[in-house]
Amino acid sequence: LNISAHPLVEIAVGLGDRAYDIVIGHQALDMCGERLRSFFRCGRALVVTDSNVGPLHGPRLEAVLEQLGIETQFITVPAGEQSKSFEGLQTIVDALLDANIERGEVVIALGGGVVGDLAGFAASITKRGVDFIQIPTTLLAQVDSSVGGKTGINTRHGKNFAGTFHQPRLVIADSGFLSSLPDREIRAGYAEIVKAALIGDTALFERLEAAGPDILRGEDLTHAISDAVRFKANIVAKDEREAGVRALLNLGHTFAHAFEADAPKDAIRHGEAVAVGLALAFRFSAEHASCDPADAGRVEAHLRQIGLPAAPQDLPFSGWSAQSLIERMRGDKKNMGGKITLILAHGIGNAYIDHDIDETDLVRFLKKVLK
Ligand SMILES: NC(=O)c1ccc[n+]([C@@H]2O[C@H](COP(=O)([O-])OP(=O)(O)OC[C@H]3O[C@@H](n4cnc5c(N)ncnc54)[C@H](O)[C@@H]3O)[C@@H](O)[C@H]2O)c1
Repeated sequence: LNISAHPLVEIAVGLGDRAYDIVIGHQALDMCGERLRSFFRCGRALVVTDSNVGPLHGPRLEAVLEQLGIETQFITVPAGEQSKSFEGLQTIVDALLDANIERGEVVIALGGGVVGDLAGFAASITKRGVDFIQIPTTLLAQVDSSVGGKTGINTRHGKNFAGTFHQPRLVIADSGFLSSLPDREIRAGYAEIVKAALIGDTALFERLEAAGPDILRGEDLTHAISDAVRFKANIVAKDEREAGVRALLNLGHTFAHAFEADAPKDAIRHGEAVAVGLALAFRFSAEHASCDPADAGRVEAHLRQIGLPAAPQDLPFSGWSAQSLIERMRGDKKNMGGKITLILAHGIGNAYIDHDIDETDLVRFLKKVLK
């Protein structure tokens, strides 16, 4: 659909009997009334949210559902990454069972990536699996985590180490929710849009570069969200369970997860770690993968132009060590045959998967960039 002529963009994730739509735009929630009604014929919606989003946006969702004759019950977890834990999972599963959820009912996840990952995981295992709907309220969740069906929690071994693939039945990415989102969170989410462009959409990257910081609000942002979601939806439809091409979506993430795991609680945002990871993946590529160093320079310059970190030194923590980061990277889920896998790039919009990273070389690189 043409975005200027239509307030809403709809993107289909083509997964056969697990196919679903992502509805993007201002007031997308209000426009989805009839669809929501079809999911809640029982007259009740169980909504998982967090302690920030619930008070801010719960009443709006409740009002929309009430107009459809649907009663809302909220299940609220503390805001923050710590809720993505076994305890957080147990809280939600217990609350769903306390509410005597039936297998035909549908859970709503209203919140950022934390709520989406956690509620999706809980839905996928409660009574051996109930359906869920994503209503993402952060930019990061709208462009990335709400799409594709990866759910999970963190364990002491690392981020997202326990989880399932469980596709939502519908995603409603209403840009109205973003109005209460702090600038830092907007920028963090934007890193995942840059990621999509860097993996395989050169034209998008050029548009982002040309727009500069203006891209972070308004119609331009909705357009960029749609492009990034469409990009991800295509990849997910080709490779739902990450047997191949979907791993490209991890560009920057092997570095990012290592930084996140080693940072103090809540010191850095996931998207900030991803931004640094993207810059490092391009720097490493410029040294090893025939990527033009000028492309690595453009990536770094664009991240900085937006106010995102582009080097470990830009992060609000400095206690990294190459040894500890490499330990984290050794535990990455993408690794094969005991070798570290990285997503690298031949240039902007041309990422590829390298399953054969030389560890000594990576340690040397990390030492250099941490200096
Ligand atoms: N499943 C996937 O494919 C996938 C992809 C990328 C990231 N993730 C996961 O997503 C998580 C990060 O998501 P996130 O950045 O959305 O974090 P988050 O869910 O913690 O949200 C960030 C903060 O913003 C608050 N918030 C949310 N919506 C708000 C709003 N509209 N107004 C004001 N405040 C609001 C939250 O309460 C929280 O404090 C990580 O755990 C990451 O691993 C998952």
